[in-house]
Amino acid sequence: MRLRVAMVAAECEPWAKTGGLADVVDALARALGRLDEIDGPVEVFLPRYRAIPAPSPGALLGEAVVRVPDPRAPAGTTELTVIDVAGDGYRLRLVDHPAAFDRVHLYGDAAGDYADNAWRFGLFCRAVLETVRTADRPPDVLHLHDWHAGSAAVFRALRYGGDPAVRDLAFVMTVHNLAYRGWTPNRALPQLGLRVGDGAPGQNPDGIDLLAAGIEGAEIVNTVSPGFAAEARTPALGMGLDGLLRSRGDRFIGILNGLDTALWDPSTDPAIAATYSSGDRSGKAVCRADLLARCGLDPADDAPVVGMVARLVPQKGFDLLAAAAPALLDRGARLIVLGSGQPALAVPFRALADASPGRLAFVDIFDRAMARRIYAGADVFAMPSRYEPCGQGQMIALRYGTPPIVRRTGGLADTVVDETSHPGDGTGFVFEEPSSEALVEACDRAFRLRAQGGSAWRGLVDRGMAVDFDWATGPAPAYVAAYRRAIAVRSGGDV
Ligand code: GLC
Repeated sequence: MRLRVAMVAAECEPWAKTGGLADVVDALARALGRLDEIDGPVEVFLPRYRAIPAPSPGALLGEAVVRVPDPRAPAGTTELTVIDVAGDGYRLRLVDHPAAFDRVHLYGDAAGDYADNAWRFGLFCRAVLETVRTADRPPDVLHLHDWHAGSAAVFRALRYGGDPAVRDLAFVMTVHNLAYRGWTPNRALPQLGLRVGDGAPGQNPDGIDLLAAGIEGAEIVNTVSPGFAAEARTPALGMGLDGLLRSRGDRFIGILNGLDTALWDPSTDPAIAATYSSGDRSGKAVCRADLLARCGLDPADDAPVVGMVARLVPQKGFDLLAAAAPALLDRGARLIVLGSGQPALAVPFRALADASPGRLAFVDIFDRAMARRIYAGADVFAMPSRYEPCGQGQMIALRYGTPPIVRRTGGLADTVVDETSHPGDGTGFVFEEPSSEALVEACDRAFRLRAQGGSAWRGLVDRGMAVDFDWATGPAPAYVAAYRRAIAVRSGGDV
């Protein structure tokens, strides 16, 4: 049987992005659509945020109005519009409801998360379930991503028991990040039309955890690397959900993310100063000089350039790099850091940039082109994450010939081989402790090998550029297998 798949996600490149979730949803949907086993197009449901432009007439595939229960509407129900747009290799289904999504940001502003997020994403999930319930070609599997999609599991369990079109639909839940939960305390339960004691998946005496709802309610649950799947089962890294994840047994698995190798390709990337490939890397030097010049650094300076690109959140270990920066600068290194997100985390980097002009540059806006220039132009790429379900920056850095320096955690441990402990086989530099000393020590190892130059460094870069992260090779078929298992579980065939 060929499978019909619909995804439910709060982010999807290029329409709405704060982090790797957006890249993964876009790339996975496209990769799945190319498989014979998928009866395409894959559908991707996404809220229609303010920043999403009106689709061009050529891309607009249709529009439908769907009426759903809305605990906040005086009449008890409300209408949303589902706008179908041709995506690159899949069908984008924008759920339009200005009161919920026509806002400056996706999840919240400087004051914190929007107080009505449970309502916003609950309504979104309701609209998805109503749409698939009445679809001509309903999906076989609904693939939920992160907490924003978790309330679909709540509504399937509590509201659609008598309706086979939704009741029998198989769910796969992907956890991209265990830290973001959509926690909804009892006083906010009415936003979801719930009451204390409803017994919804993810519900406890204090409220409902919408990520837990998806984990508990979906037939198959995965996170985005085998390493993080193992860590998430432990009290140390399970963020309070380790018990629930363990209880899912072998229905909780790790599937390593891929990388869209067409979107991330230094031999075709239009944003970088010169293209290059592993066979001819001369363009990388051009990219390096261009990056340094753009950042106010001396393009002729041969000192090692450390790049970092990430969401500016505690998870990513920006504090470790800030603390390591003086020692790295003392060693003559140059730092180029791009991150947007929490303003407090930017403060030390602004101070460092002011104190070290021409040696450290900090870019605090989300700039896609600049990020690409850093991946291409830096000599090494830092990813000192405190935890990392998968991570994408290290994969891009590898592909762009920029050896990553990573902490041994989650997906970073699964994707980067340490050159110091595996000389001649490594692809980057790995350190253990979440400390600035450990980061500096790993940078020292990288700087030493780079200074030696010659075949050892060239080999390291070659091996990194050759790693195959193609979605089509491993991850997309692994998701198809997960979908088939989910269908079997839902129909009672896999108990
Ligand atoms: C989240 C995780 C990151 C992962 C990404 C895509 O952003 O923090 O590790 O790569 O989701 O799955």
